[in-house]
Amino acid sequence: MPTYIVMLGPPGVGKGTQAKVLASQLELPHISSGDIFRENLKDGTEMGKLAQTYMSKGELVPDDVTIAMIRERFERPDCKNGAILDGFPRTPAQAVALDKMLAVFGGKVNMVPFIMAPDEVLIERLTGRWTCRASGHIFHEKFNQPRQAGKCDIDGSELYQREDDKVETVVKRIQVYLQQTTPLIEFYKSQGTLVEINGAQPIDEVSAQLLSFLNK
Ligand code: AP5
Ligand code: MG
Repeated sequence: MPTYIVMLGPPGVGKGTQAKVLASQLELPHISSGDIFRENLKDGTEMGKLAQTYMSKGELVPDDVTIAMIRERFERPDCKNGAILDGFPRTPAQAVALDKMLAVFGGKVNMVPFIMAPDEVLIERLTGRWTCRASGHIFHEKFNQPRQAGKCDIDGSELYQREDDKVETVVKRIQVYLQQTTPLIEFYKSQGTLVEINGAQPIDEVSAQLLSFLNK
């Protein structure tokens, strides 16, 4: 049976950081909707340019565009054994669309780690984040420092600060999360897949808690 895991939680809580840990432990692809939009922008595609008009304001990209983009990603053969989804779904319409897409593979959402932390923690994490230009590896100037400032430990590419990590945009992203994404907590609770994770702990402790749930 394929294994599909949906990382749920506010901006900056550590979805991407922990998704990479799970993807390597479980040998599954890490599918980050935000990373796919950013790659499209870098490649200058029409979809990337359209997505950027929403991302730069901290708003969600419309459901139809986002769902079509994820559907296309699922058409690649590496997803048929499962995937770690990060940043998708984030509206009820996307969650319903995901269930339909997975049914095609005879799969379903198996586990939804819901990672939480207070707003002041999220703001400190996002405003100190450094992201790798080549593949989106994630660092933090205090909590997860690269060995050499400005350079990715994994592939040596340049580290940059995301445009949407400015404090005004971060505050907007948290509001949008509260309005549009929190209904998914009840959605997955009612499916019996939600597990609550304390995201205010150090990175390794969050990973340990996640892996202990997975082994159950
Ligand atoms: P997206 O890229 O998904 O951003 P997000 O959800 O706002 O989440 P982030 O990536 O900012 O945070 P994260 O939880 O991954 O934290 P990270 O691990 O990096 O989306 C961006 C935009 O794209 C959206 O605003 C929207 O416009 C669009 N979009 C994307 N998906 C969409 C969708 N489905 N529908 C519509 N629009 C969509 O960690 C943050 C920092 O904290 C890092 O520096 C990290 O090193 C550090 N850190 C992590 N964990 C810890 C810890 N435990 N202790 C200390 N530091 C930590
Ligand atoms: Mg992320």
